[in-house]
Amino acid sequence: MIKKCVLPVAGYGTRFLPVTKVLPKEMLPILDKPLVQYGIEEAEQAGLTQICFVTGQSKRAIEDHFDRNLDLDVHLQGTERATALNTLNDLIEKCQFTYTRQVNQLGLGHAIKVSQSLVGDEPFGVILPDDFCVSSDIGVMEQLRQVYARYQCSVIAVEDVQPEQTASYGIIKGDEIEKGLVRVEDLVEKPQPDKAPSNTAVIGRYILTPEIFDELEHISRGIGGEYQLTDALARVARSTQVLALKFSGKRFDCGSLEGFVEATNYCYNARLKNSQT
Ligand code: G1P
Repeated sequence: MIKKCVLPVAGYGTRFLPVTKVLPKEMLPILDKPLVQYGIEEAEQAGLTQICFVTGQSKRAIEDHFDRNLDLDVHLQGTERATALNTLNDLIEKCQFTYTRQVNQLGLGHAIKVSQSLVGDEPFGVILPDDFCVSSDIGVMEQLRQVYARYQCSVIAVEDVQPEQTASYGIIKGDEIEKGLVRVEDLVEKPQPDKAPSNTAVIGRYILTPEIFDELEHISRGIGGEYQLTDALARVARSTQVLALKFSGKRFDCGSLEGFVEATNYCYNARLKNSQT
């Protein structure tokens, strides 16, 4: 059983300045719900209810968001907004939230290493809240969990991107072992298109086995001078097994303004459609 899910949220969110000067980028809303809440809902849907945040300065709003605000609950009682916090309060009841600080921002690999004190020695999920995923029925984390249940190895979510976009992603190399499931032979972080082994990109959903922590000890700084999770995963792929799932659903890159606006429009149209039926 996988119970834990890590959310690295220490990043400054410089692409969204000035709004991210004091507001964590993970708290930016898609409609009326912060990005990070969608991620936690996806984790909870997969049964991952022990949420481990790797956090940093100016991120306290996240901690407050996932706590009851009893004054507000009382204030809402008997008003037409009485149910406005129900989904969030349910989530708060179902999950436990723990926090650790990433003091130096040395990359995603470093953030995962920092999470070891919360995760311990067990398989765990990772959600990068910037990658906002929608799917018609089963969430992406649950799709990964189902693969993990069959293979008991690290499983990552992938999708095909335009060949000219490879330098923005971890890119995998491997062969399909069944429809939509690839055995990963190698991974490269942000290769230029002419160096990319494919155009199949890693997106921000992972299930990792605890051996990743040992491999993270063995990597040096990679592209951008950062410790890359991709480089440690490439070692796991060589020593044991990593599977990549071409998930069903749609992903928006909410780390970019364009992706954020696209996700917002998508959700708004979906809500309009729902309210009309
Ligand atoms: C990170 C990972 C990269 C992955 C991407 C997905 O990069 O390092 O392998 O493809 O997330 O969003 P970042 O976007 O943080 O630079």
